[in-house]
Amino acid sequence: MSNFTASYNLFFWIMAAVCGFVAAGIAFFLILFAARYHRRRESELPPQIQGNAIAESLWIGIPFVLFMGMFAYGAKLYFDMRLPPADAMEIYVVGKQWMWKTQHPEGEREINELHIPVGRRVKLTMTSEDVIHSFFIPDFRVKQDVLPNRYTTLWFQATKPGKYHLFCAEYCGAKHSGMIGWIYAMEPHEYQAWLEQGAAEGGMASTGEKLFHQFQCANCHHFDGRGPCPDLQGLYGSTVQIGGGTSVSGPTTVVADESYIREKILNPRAKVVQGWKEGYMPSFQGQIDEEQILDLIAYIRALSPAPGGAIASGSGGALQGAAPQPTIIGPEATSIHNTAPYRP
Ligand code: CUA
Repeated sequence: MSNFTASYNLFFWIMAAVCGFVAAGIAFFLILFAARYHRRRESELPPQIQGNAIAESLWIGIPFVLFMGMFAYGAKLYFDMRLPPADAMEIYVVGKQWMWKTQHPEGEREINELHIPVGRRVKLTMTSEDVIHSFFIPDFRVKQDVLPNRYTTLWFQATKPGKYHLFCAEYCGAKHSGMIGWIYAMEPHEYQAWLEQGAAEGGMASTGEKLFHQFQCANCHHFDGRGPCPDLQGLYGSTVQIGGGTSVSGPTTVVADESYIREKILNPRAKVVQGWKEGYMPSFQGQIDEEQILDLIAYIRALSPAPGGAIASGSGGALQGAAPQPTIIGPEATSIHNTAPYRP
């Protein structure tokens, strides 16, 4: 059970009651009037009625109030569900044919399972490695499509410990029906114990830090602001001015969220930052998988203080705020960018 279960049930039963009441009323009066007012003689003509203001205002007014009430309640539920609260704990989900891979910021990875504490808001950031899937927890009354090449989010708060079904709710190929799993909602102290018995590999951000060096990002993205590519400290969550290179199209500013960082890793020529040249950074399309991208994002996120000065919740261990100095693997490239044009 989740924070949405009771209000969705109420909404369902209100709609069922209204529709059932109207359908039963129509059937009742249909039969009653057919019996009461049917034609008795061949020559019988009904009396002509010229309108009735009271009856007309009632059959316009009552349905209007009813339907607008249902719309307002439905819209409120929709917005509550679509807008994850800022203090939610974050979990990352990658769907692929045919399994769900989940990862906690502390580093735990799971397949077709997800452990969560009850009484805490949980936000899922989800993407797919191949086709469209849909993450569906019927008992929580939440469902969200999981799409390739973008992030979608879903949030909920489990209210009762237990084991709940997880389904894929979008036909995704031969073994779609086998793309199922379990959500384990645990008491907070049990969840803490579960977390501690797992995290051998370190948090997502520290895995991301290793990838940052492995993919040689550190060669160009220096932390002193003097590298050939932008300094990534403080990038996450900030507003970026677009317009560098030749990519001036679309919006001129963009918020550096997960989607933006992911796009820049896979297609650096898109949305080039003002003051920077395009074509310097290679695309990592095909070299990096979705889980590694999420780890890199967690690392870049950990380089940015969250509002209020604390380090972003996604940092998970290892870093805790210190701006790590990159290990230089390749040749120093500082002078390549922003220098005078080459003249033979
Ligand atoms: Cu994945 Cu259906």
